Amino acid sequence: MAGEERNIKLKIENVKKIYNSRNGEMIALNGVNLNIAENEFICVVGPSGCGKSTLLNIIAGLLEPTSGNVYCDGKKVVGTGTERGVVFQQYALFPWMTVKKNVMFGLNLQGIKGEEAEERAMKYIKMVQLEDFLNHYPKELSGGMKQRVAIARAYAVNPSVLLMDEPFGALDAQTRTQLQSELLETWEKEQKTCFFITHDVDEAIILAQKVIIMSARPGRIKEIVDINIPYPRTQETKMSPEFLDLKNHIWGQVYHEYLEVRK
Ligand SMILES: Nc1ncnc2c1ncn2[C@@H]1O[C@H](COP(=O)(O)OP(=O)(O)O)[C@@H](O)[C@H]1O
Ligand SMILES: [Mg+2]
Repeated sequence: MAGEERNIKLKIENVKKIYNSRNGEMIALNGVNLNIAENEFICVVGPSGCGKSTLLNIIAGLLEPTSGNVYCDGKKVVGTGTERGVVFQQYALFPWMTVKKNVMFGLNLQGIKGEEAEERAMKYIKMVQLEDFLNHYPKELSGGMKQRVAIARAYAVNPSVLLMDEPFGALDAQTRTQLQSELLETWEKEQKTCFFITHDVDEAIILAQKVIIMSARPGRIKEIVDINIPYPRTQETKMSPEFLDLKNHIWGQVYHEYLEVRK
């Protein structure tokens, strides 16, 4: 709408990251600038090694940038914070805890205990449809179910930002599609700012309002593509001409960067 401006939730300002490795300095990110609006769904694509995870970990506060800053709600990010929830590809569940205990863990850390913690955990376990598996241990669950637990655990502490690093990357195509629709449903209900990394261009287009294409190392933002396809998006969306045009374009750009890496 003309004149309407969404609040900036995350501001990434000239972020540079240099790793000191055995072979000397390695520039992983070389001046990344990006504003992400409140409740926006952003997907990040780019060739392997271009710095996607580095950027996510800096936003999460798990890594410090060499220079530059990240701001969340206008405040400089220093370390992790409960307003920023993270979901990784490797479920990162505690193997010795049941589904319910895994989801309650983060709540307990925040000082939410007893009945309140249980109620909150139950709400999100139901949301991911695992209420029949409360007392199961991670090893008794499929990959998709484990990732649902990780998502419920991230949601339970009610972060306003969700940072997801290829969360569905290890899942089979069907489970992945299922979790994509569930994630979109929850996002529409609960409204969060999502920063989602994927190497799957279809996944990026089906989920995102904006796709960020990163260039080959040292990582920078190469292009921001608006995805103006209305939600809810379904499997049919993937057959539409607008989807295919976007896919062609984004895939071409990513492939170009991939070739740069191989030079
Ligand atoms: N702890 C580290 N020490 C040295 N180099 C690293 C470290 N973490 C990542 N890198 C390097 O930084 C680059 C970017 O890594 P990463 O952010 O994981 O990329 P992506 O997630 O896009 O695949 C890669 O070349 C990787 O090898
Ligand atoms: Mg990565």
